[in-house]
Amino acid sequence: MDPYQSVVDRVAGTASVVMLVGALDSGKSTLGTGLAAAGIQAGRVVAYLDVDLGRKTVGPPTAVTMRMLHEPADLEPHRLSRPDAISFVGATSPQGQLLPLVVGAGRLRTLARAQGADLVVVDTSGLVSGVYGQILKYHKVELLEPDVVIGLARGEELDPILGIVRRFFPSEVVALPVLPDIRHTSIDERAQYREANFREYFAEPLQRWRVKPTVFMPTLPALFDPAQLDRLLVGLSDGKGGSTGIGYLEYSAGDGVMRLISPVAEGPKALKLGSVRLEEDFRIRRVDLRNLFGTD
Ligand SMILES: Nc1ncnc2c1ncn2[C@@H]1O[C@H](COP(=O)(O)OP(=O)(O)OP(=O)(O)O)[C@@H](O)[C@H]1O
Ligand SMILES: [Mg+2]
Repeated sequence: MDPYQSVVDRVAGTASVVMLVGALDSGKSTLGTGLAAAGIQAGRVVAYLDVDLGRKTVGPPTAVTMRMLHEPADLEPHRLSRPDAISFVGATSPQGQLLPLVVGAGRLRTLARAQGADLVVVDTSGLVSGVYGQILKYHKVELLEPDVVIGLARGEELDPILGIVRRFFPSEVVALPVLPDIRHTSIDERAQYREANFREYFAEPLQRWRVKPTVFMPTLPALFDPAQLDRLLVGLSDGKGGSTGIGYLEYSAGDGVMRLISPVAEGPKALKLGSVRLEEDFRIRRVDLRNLFGTD
C-alpha cells in the first residue's frame, strides 16, 4: 500500500495546480508521475510541468519543459522524452538562472491551460535550502498559484519554505515524510542519467544549419572570436517569443563556418545562448557568458 495514496487520490481529483517541493532524492518526480497517472484515471486532462533543469522527467536537461498527458501511455518514457513545449534556460541547475527559470515556468503553465489542461503537476528542482532556495520557491508559488503545495521532507528541512507558503499564499500545504526506503542518487549516477537524457534528445535524424553571427541573444560583442562558441548549447527561437527546442553550435576552423546541430525539424528564427558546453559523450562544462564576452 502506497502511504501517499489518499493524498494522491484527493489531490489528483480536485486540484488545478499542484506543486511538488523537496530536496534531492525526496521522491518528487515519482509522486508527480503518480499524481499525473491518478489524474488521467480520474478523467482529467493533465499537464506535467517539469521545472527541474537537471534530472528531467520530461524532455532534455537545461530547459523547463511541459508534456500534455491524455492517456496512461503518455507517461511512458519515450513519450515523456518528447515535450509539447520547452523554455530554454541553458543550465542544469537554478543557480544564476532564477529569472529564465521562473519566466519559463509561467509561460509553459499558460500554454498548458491553453491546451486544455485542468490539472497541472509542477515538478521542481531540489534547491530548497538557504536564501536562494526560499526566494526561488516563493516566486514560483507567486507566479504559478498552486492550490496545493506538497512538501516531501526529511526532518525539518522544509519548515522555512512551507512556512513561507503558509504565511504568504492561500495554497493548501501538505507536508509528507520522505519514504525511508528511497534510494540516494550519486553524483556519477546523476551525470549518467543527464548524459543519457541528452543522448536521447540528440538522436538522429539531426539537422545541421549554417548560422550567422547576428542571430544570438545576448548579441555577440564586436571582434568576438566565434570559435569560442564551439559546442555551446543554445535554445531555438520560433520568433514569436516561444522556443522550439535545443541544439548546440559547431564551429569549423577550416572554413570559418558556424553550424547549429539540432533534432528540431524547422529552422530557428534566432538562438539564445546557454551557459554550458556539450562535450564528448554529452558531458557538460559550465560557461559564464560574461567571462566569455569579457563584459558585465
Ligand atoms: N516509493 C518509493 N519507494 C522506493 N524508492 C523510491 C520511491 N519513490 C522514489 N524512489 C526512488 O528514489 C529515487 C529518487 O526518487 P525521485 O526521482 O522520485 O526523487 P526526486 O525528488 O524527484 O529526485 P531529484 O531531486 O533527483 O529529481 C529514485 O531512484 C526512485 O526510483
Ligand atoms: Mg525529480
